[in-house]
Amino acid sequence: MSGKTESGASLKDVYRDYFLLGNIVSARNLEGARLDLLTRHFSIATAENAMKPASLQRERGVFTFEAADAMVNQVLAAGMLMHGHTLAWHQQSPDWMNREGIDREEAVENLITHTKTVAEHFKGRVISWDVLNEAVIDNPADPSDWAASLRKTPWLTAIGPEYIEIVFKAAREADPEAKLYYNDYNLDSREKAQAVYTMVKALNEKNPDVGGRPLIDGVGMQGHYRVSTNPEDVRVSLESFIALGVEVSITELDVQAGADSVLTEKQGVEQGISYARLFQVFKAHAAQIGRVTFWGLDDSTSWRSAANPTVFDKDLKEKPAYYAILDPETYIQDNKTIFAGDVKQGEARYGTPRLGDDSLWESAAELPVNQYLMAWQGAFGTAKVLWDERNLYVRVNVQNAELNMANPAAHEQDSVELFVDENNGKTSYYENDDGQYRINFAGDLSVNPGVAAEGIESSALAEEGAYTVEMKIPFKTLKPGPDTIIGFDVQINGASERGVRQSVAVWNDTSGESYRSTSGFGVLKLVK
Ligand code: XIL
Repeated sequence: MSGKTESGASLKDVYRDYFLLGNIVSARNLEGARLDLLTRHFSIATAENAMKPASLQRERGVFTFEAADAMVNQVLAAGMLMHGHTLAWHQQSPDWMNREGIDREEAVENLITHTKTVAEHFKGRVISWDVLNEAVIDNPADPSDWAASLRKTPWLTAIGPEYIEIVFKAAREADPEAKLYYNDYNLDSREKAQAVYTMVKALNEKNPDVGGRPLIDGVGMQGHYRVSTNPEDVRVSLESFIALGVEVSITELDVQAGADSVLTEKQGVEQGISYARLFQVFKAHAAQIGRVTFWGLDDSTSWRSAANPTVFDKDLKEKPAYYAILDPETYIQDNKTIFAGDVKQGEARYGTPRLGDDSLWESAAELPVNQYLMAWQGAFGTAKVLWDERNLYVRVNVQNAELNMANPAAHEQDSVELFVDENNGKTSYYENDDGQYRINFAGDLSVNPGVAAEGIESSALAEEGAYTVEMKIPFKTLKPGPDTIIGFDVQINGASERGVRQSVAVWNDTSGESYRSTSGFGVLKLVK
C-alpha cells in the first residue's frame, strides 16, 4: 500500500534539489517530539499566527515583538530559514487598523508604519514576506479588471487600489533583500487566478524598478485543498504565474479528507493520491518554485484538524500522504486499484460481435444500470460488455423511456452514456486514456473529449418506450489482455415528455461527476 521508500526518510532531503519544504510554527511544535519532526522534515518555517498584524501591533504604536522574536530565533537556531506572514491582511488585524470609515491619510500612515516597522525589525532573519494576503475576491466577474476584483476591505475603501503599491513599496524599502510575495487562496480557480495574474502583471509593468527589480517578487498559492481539487487546475494557474516571470511558492498546503477526525483507509489513500499528483505538478515546475510549505505539522494541531489534512497523524505517524510525497510516481502506481474493493466489479467476455448478431451477446454478463441520481426514477436498463484486442463492445437495453430528443443539449435527451478509463487511473480529471461516449435512442453520437470519436461504430434501435444501443469503442492506449482491469460506467439519461432530463440511472458512479472525473467509475475485468 505504501511507497517503497524507507520509512522515516526526511522529506526536505528528498526535495533538496527541487525546492525548500516548509511548515508552520506555533509554540506547540517548537518543543519535544513535534520539534524533532519539524526539523527532521522541513527547512523553512512560517509563523502560524505570531507575525500577523494583530499579534504585533494590537495597540496603535505599541509593537509587541517578544513572542515572535523568540520563535524566529529558535527557528534560526535550529538551522531552519524563516518566511514572514503577513504584513497586511484584512483578518487578524487589530480593530483600530482595520476599521471602516478611517480616512485616507490615516490609513496610509497606518499601513506604511506597520509595514516598515515590522519588515525592518525582522530584516536579515526572514528570506521572504507575504506582504499582502487575500486581497482578491472569489469568482471575480471580470478578471481582466484587477482593480474591480479587489476585496472590499477597509484598506481598499480608504486608500483605493493604490494601497497595494504602497504596501509593497514600503516593504521593499524596509527590507530590500527579502522576496516580496502576494499570497492568496483558491488560486486553482481560473477566474481568481486570472485576476491575480492581471494584478501582478500590471503592477510589475508599472513598477519595473523598485530597488533594482519589479515590485512583486512572487505569488503565493496558499493551497488549502480537498481530495476533489483538480491538480490540473493547480498546474494551469501555476504555469500562468510562472509566465509572469515571478517566483511561485505553495505557501499553506493542506488537503482535507474524511471528517470528524476520522480518516478511513480508503480516504487516506485518496488523500495520498491527491498529494502525489500535486507534488508531480510541483516537481515539474521546481525551477520556478521557491518553497512548498504545509499548513500544519500533524492532524491534531492543524487549523482544520477534523478534516485530517496533513501528512502526519495525531500520533505524529506517517500517513499515506507522507509516502505519496516521498515518491509520487511509485505511490500512484501502487495504489491505482485500491479503490476496486467497494466499487462494482463486472466482467467483459472476450469476443468480436458483429452488429445485429446476437449469439455472442447472449452469454455476456449483465450489468444493472438502475441506481438513480435524481428524485425521479425513470429510464433504466442493463448493459453487456465484450472485448477483443482492439475494441470494447457495449450493448445497453433501456426500458421505461419517454423517447424524447427535443432538447438540443444531448444529455437532456433519452440517451446512454458510456465511460471508459483504460488505465483505471481513478483521476479527478480526464487523462488521455479516458472517454465519455453518448448515444441517444435515434443513434446520434456525442463524445467527450472530441478526439475520442475516432473509430467508433454504433447503432440504435427504438421501440415503444424502450431502446437498445450498441457501440464499438476502440482502445486508445490500452493493450488489453485477460485479467486487465479497466474503469467503466454506464449512465442512462431519461427525458421527460417536455424534453428535460428528469432521471439519471447509473451502474456504479453515483457522484454525478463521471463526465469529468473517473474517480467514481466501476471496474470491469476483461476475461477470456
Ligand atoms: C489560520 C491559522 O492557522 C489559525 O490558527 C488562525 O486561527 C486563523 O488563521 N490563510 C492564511 C493563514 O493566510 O494565516 C490562516 O491561518 C489560514 C488561511
